[in-house]
Amino acid sequence: MAKLKARYVCQACGSVHSRWQGQCPDCAEWNTLSQESAAPTVFSQKHDLSTGGRAVELVGLDAEVALPVRISTGIAEFDRAVGGGIVPGSAMLLAGDPGIGKSTLLLQVAASVAKAGKGAVYVSGEEAVDQVRLRALRLGLGAAPVKLASVTSVRDILTTLQGESPPALLVIDSVQTMHSDLIEGAPGTVSQVRASAQELIRFAKERGTALILVGHVTKDGSIAGPRVLEHMVDAVLGFEGERSHQYRILRAVKNRFGGTDEIGVFAMEGAGLAEVPNPSALFLTRRDDPVSGTAIFPALEGTRPVLVEIQALTVRLASGATPRRSAVGWDSSRLAMLLAVLEARCGVSFATAEVYLNVAGGYKLQDPAADLAVAAALVSALSERPVPAEAVVMGEVALSGEVRQAAHTQLRLKEAAKLGFEEAWVPGGVEAKGIKVARFSQLRGLVEKVTGR
Ligand code: TYD
Ligand code: MG
Repeated sequence: MAKLKARYVCQACGSVHSRWQGQCPDCAEWNTLSQESAAPTVFSQKHDLSTGGRAVELVGLDAEVALPVRISTGIAEFDRAVGGGIVPGSAMLLAGDPGIGKSTLLLQVAASVAKAGKGAVYVSGEEAVDQVRLRALRLGLGAAPVKLASVTSVRDILTTLQGESPPALLVIDSVQTMHSDLIEGAPGTVSQVRASAQELIRFAKERGTALILVGHVTKDGSIAGPRVLEHMVDAVLGFEGERSHQYRILRAVKNRFGGTDEIGVFAMEGAGLAEVPNPSALFLTRRDDPVSGTAIFPALEGTRPVLVEIQALTVRLASGATPRRSAVGWDSSRLAMLLAVLEARCGVSFATAEVYLNVAGGYKLQDPAADLAVAAALVSALSERPVPAEAVVMGEVALSGEVRQAAHTQLRLKEAAKLGFEEAWVPGGVEAKGIKVARFSQLRGLVEKVTGR
């Protein structure tokens, strides 16, 4: 038989190396290489996997299945983002920047579940019990029957919970502080995070407890610890927003038990996170006199319209210098594409201008239908001619300069009309009631409308 040779497999990206290294040369993660014996190159009978196993029964898709029973947390915006409540026995990861409000949110969720008599345990590895109590007092939740502990040993947590009837909800804040004594290494290392999460998830599955793990996000925006953590859990929730702004958006990035297109909207206030059931006007600054460089876009989050203000600023440059392009809240490569389409198809050149684009309120736009509104803001900034304050703009722009219809146009128009907008700038072919429309099948048409030429 061929000799088994040791090989080192990166546990984060799966690349294979012939010797151990502290950092994976492929994905640059640290301490992720672990030794595995290589499969023999010559296949003997014993290594033929097509025999000797147990034959399993293959079944159809059409059998009766029980839908997962969901528990409402009593916080509607949270329930909405996770797909209609938490699923017993499921594991979720809540990721977000430090200080964004993860601990606050989960303490509120735990308190709400506990108040409904379902049993909630909140384990903090970062704060002492008294600190959590103080926060609860400030949030007006001092009387909620949440069970608290400040521990970092997974063994201690599981031993404690083994003696109790399983809670409906277990919050671990945060997974990076947890320590499993089955594995060497300091808390927060890739192997510790993985091992701790694995044990906690096993507990959740066995006892039917819904588990929420808090995960910190590193500077580059990815969840610290191994990517495998994302594969281990049933749902990954992102809690986002600008620290300097009040608004926070809870969004499912992955959800085995539901869609990923609904968001929960909260406002960070003096007494914790308040639900924002009607976010559509949240990101708007209403003004009577239009200013150049702004356009209102009726965005859609799942089934909810959210009206956002897009702001553009252009600054003329002395010739020769390389102009800056900067986008906050929007994809910068999409901005580059739009600038190119404006130049190539409409003859509007930004070559000698710096371009800054901002989505107001710290909102992050992902909707391609924002193209036309961004183009309107850009052209308006450059030509110093305002888009009327009572107009909303939407449509996707193709490289050819054609303007295409957005998904759920009617829903967006209805919301705009409800909020008092009187005019909609939309792609050709859109029918609308209750609001005046201007249609553009080419981007050139929009440019003419804004510049008045
Ligand atoms: P926190 O939940 O500790 O954030 P994370 O767990 O994501 O690190 O929230 C921290 C911020 O929230 C803190 O800077 C203060 C602010 N905050 C309020 O504005 N109001 C409140 O009622 C609470 C509890 C926190
Ligand atoms: Mg915290």
